[in-house]
Amino acid sequence: MEPIVWEWVNFLVRWLHVITAIAWIGSSFYFIHLDLSLRRRDGLPPGVAGEAWQVHGGGFYNMMKYTVAPPELPEKLTWFKWEAYATWLSGFALLSVLYYHGAALYMIDPAVLDIPWWGAVLLSLGALGLGWHGYDRLCKSPLGKDDVKLAAAGFVFLVLVAWGLSHLFSGRAAMLHVGALIGTMMSANVFRIIIPNQTKAVAAMKAGQVPDPALGKQAKQRSLHNNYLTLPVVFLMISNHYPLAFGTRYSWVIVAVVLVVGAVIRHFFNSRHAGKPTPWWTWAVATAGVAVIVGLSAAGTRTESAAAPARVELAQVEFAQVEEVVLSRCSMCHAAQPVWEGIGAPPRGVTLDSAEAISRHAPQIRVWAALSDAMPPGNVTGITPEERRLLAAWTDQLPR
Ligand code: HEC
Repeated sequence: MEPIVWEWVNFLVRWLHVITAIAWIGSSFYFIHLDLSLRRRDGLPPGVAGEAWQVHGGGFYNMMKYTVAPPELPEKLTWFKWEAYATWLSGFALLSVLYYHGAALYMIDPAVLDIPWWGAVLLSLGALGLGWHGYDRLCKSPLGKDDVKLAAAGFVFLVLVAWGLSHLFSGRAAMLHVGALIGTMMSANVFRIIIPNQTKAVAAMKAGQVPDPALGKQAKQRSLHNNYLTLPVVFLMISNHYPLAFGTRYSWVIVAVVLVVGAVIRHFFNSRHAGKPTPWWTWAVATAGVAVIVGLSAAGTRTESAAAPARVELAQVEFAQVEEVVLSRCSMCHAAQPVWEGIGAPPRGVTLDSAEAISRHAPQIRVWAALSDAMPPGNVTGITPEERRLLAAWTDQLPR
């Protein structure tokens, strides 16, 4: 019964997380577009920096932006914060349900660092807390006065985190945690900087004072970071379904490239929304970046790099050898009736308990267990690099 309950908790929390993230990213994309499309004209009310006309849902909207604050506060003011908070809370719930509860399978890779489940949970919490703190310090340091220098420092910081995490966790958890840290930074930007600053501005207005423009400037900087991090964070969140991204030797370098690819694509849209000359070069950079990622993902597993770099040529692998590896390393979970504790049904519907089933799943076996070390999760059944190479050689021979 228990695995069935966990499976559904996982599914429902994920559903919630995707919905809240859509709400957050949707409103964020909307406001970025609105902000960049504002235009000045004569005759705008005092304090208005620009306006935009939009048509949607059968009506016309005339949007105006007061940069510091309107002369008088309206009675009803809509705040945008729960999308961000709910995304973080549901994301943390999902992290707990999937990774903390399933630490042995999803977080710990004994070949990387052999730690108990609570050690993995502490490392995860520490990475999120310290990571946010480090980023916040960077923004508040003298570097924070220059957006470009800060972006460069932030990039180096995130790449170092990705590299560090790849020495603590399984490939899958390492990549997901870079995403979780970026998500935490983005939500904390809303929770700790943007909303408090806006609250202070509103309080100043109510007291009949002009709000400090520095508050708005700081909020805008964090908002800019959130804008450029949106595409990379989504890549990192869905990466755990793609073993070539997370389970290969240079996964942490892939993170670095994704940060660039996501940011330049975002830049393309930002420039267009702002009516600036279209930066077509961004697509050249993005395409080159993706090509680099694809190339890096073919470099093999992390264990392979440590154990034996040379690829063994297995001219003719006997199917019986393959069958033995799969039956002894995979079928305890991937069977109609799994015998591994906590696995209630064959994961993702993949059964690997007969010669026929193994042959049918050859392409998936290649991606999940030969080209990457995604399976077995946390290498709980102790597959060896030689066995992975055997699987690689077998799937190499198969007709495509
Ligand atoms: C301890 C149990 C366990 C063992 C052992 C195991 N797997 Fe898995 N496998 C899983 C789980 C759990 C998932 C689902 C992962 C997820 O949620 O992303 C999975 C997913 C997969 C998938 C993904 C299907 C898809 O397209 O999403 C493939 C392929 C796979 N395993 C192959 C293997 C191979 C090959 C082996 C042996 C080398 C193996 N597994 C060993 C538990 C196991």
